[in-house]
Amino acid sequence: MVTELIGRIERYLDLAPKARADAETVGPFTVFRSRVAHPFFARPSPGWARGYATAADVRSVGERQRELGVPETIEWVKEIAPDLGTACKDAGLRVSEHPLLVHHDSLAVPVPDGIRIRRIDDPDDDVLPSAQSVARIAFASAGTAIGDAGHTERDIATEQRAPDASDDLRQLIRDGRSVVVVAEDEHGVLCSGGHNPLGAVTEIVGVGTLPSARQRGLGAAVTDTLVADAIRRGIEVIFLSADTDDVARVYERVGFRRVGTACVASPGSIAR
Ligand SMILES: CC(C)(COP(=O)(O)OP(=O)(O)OC[C@H]1O[C@@H](n2cnc3c(N)ncnc32)[C@H](O)[C@@H]1OP(=O)(O)O)[C@@H](O)C(=O)NCCC(=O)NCCS
Repeated sequence: MVTELIGRIERYLDLAPKARADAETVGPFTVFRSRVAHPFFARPSPGWARGYATAADVRSVGERQRELGVPETIEWVKEIAPDLGTACKDAGLRVSEHPLLVHHDSLAVPVPDGIRIRRIDDPDDDVLPSAQSVARIAFASAGTAIGDAGHTERDIATEQRAPDASDDLRQLIRDGRSVVVVAEDEHGVLCSGGHNPLGAVTEIVGVGTLPSARQRGLGAAVTDTLVADAIRRGIEVIFLSADTDDVARVYERVGFRRVGTACVASPGSIAR
C-alpha cells in the first residue's frame, strides 16, 4: 500500500537528484545524468502508471544510459512500483531489495569514550577529503563486520585524491543541500555520514565506519547527530535505505523503523 509517508519519500527521491543531475524522460523512467562526481541512476517517473513498465521499457532505458555513459542502474521504492522488479528481471537485470527505514523515535545514543562527533560547518574544512576517504573504504567493506582497513589506508587514500575531488561536496554544504557529520579520535576521522535536506524531508546517506573502528558505537552516534541536526531544521521525515538487515539493525537501535523496500536493478553486481 502507498502510504502518505511513502508518497513523501517518493517525491523527495524524484526531486533530490535534480539538485545534482540533469533529468531526462525515457518512456516511464527519468534518467539522471550526474553533474557531480557521484553517478546517478534511473527511476520510474512520478505519476507513472504502476506496474506497466515492460522489459522493453527497461531495455530502452539501459540503451539510453549506455549512450550517456552512465551506470545502467534503476532504483525505485517497491511499494510504488511493485511489478517493476519482474520487468527488470525479464530484461536480464539483477534486482536487489534493501530495507527502507524512517526515523520515528529519538533514543539515548551514547558517544563512545575518546570520540568527538561534529558537524562540518565550514565547507572549506580540511577534514572533508579524509571523511570522504573513510566513506569509500567503509563501502568497499560492505556489511557490519570488523576488518583490517583503518587510519593508514584512510590517509593513503586521502593523499591520492585529486585536489578538487571534494569541490562538489563543499559546494553542496555551502548551499545547505548536504550536511556532513564525522566521528574523530586523535588520529582523525573514523566514521562519517551525511543527510541531504529538501523541504521537510531528508535522506541519510553514506554513513560508513572504517572497518577497524566498527562495533564501537560510531555509526550509531554519527547517525544520531545527523538525526538531531535534521530535527533542528524542522525536518519531518528522515529516511534512509540500508544495504542489508544487519545494517538496518544499526539504525533501528537509534530509533528508525522499516516502512518499505528500496529496490536496485543493474546488469552485474550491485554497487550502492
Ligand atoms: C553499517 C556501519 C556504518 C555501522 O558502523 P559501526 O560504527 O560499526 O556501528 P555501531 O558500532 O554503532 O553498531 C554496530 C554494532 O556494534 C554494536 N556495538 C556498538 N557499540 C559497541 C560496543 N561498545 N561493544 C560491542 N558492540 C558494540 C552495536 O550494537 C551494533 O550491533 P549489531 O550489529 O548487533 O546491531 C558500518 O558497518 C559500515 O560502514 N558498513 C559498510 C557501509 C554501510 O553499509 N553503511 C550503511 C549505509 S546504509
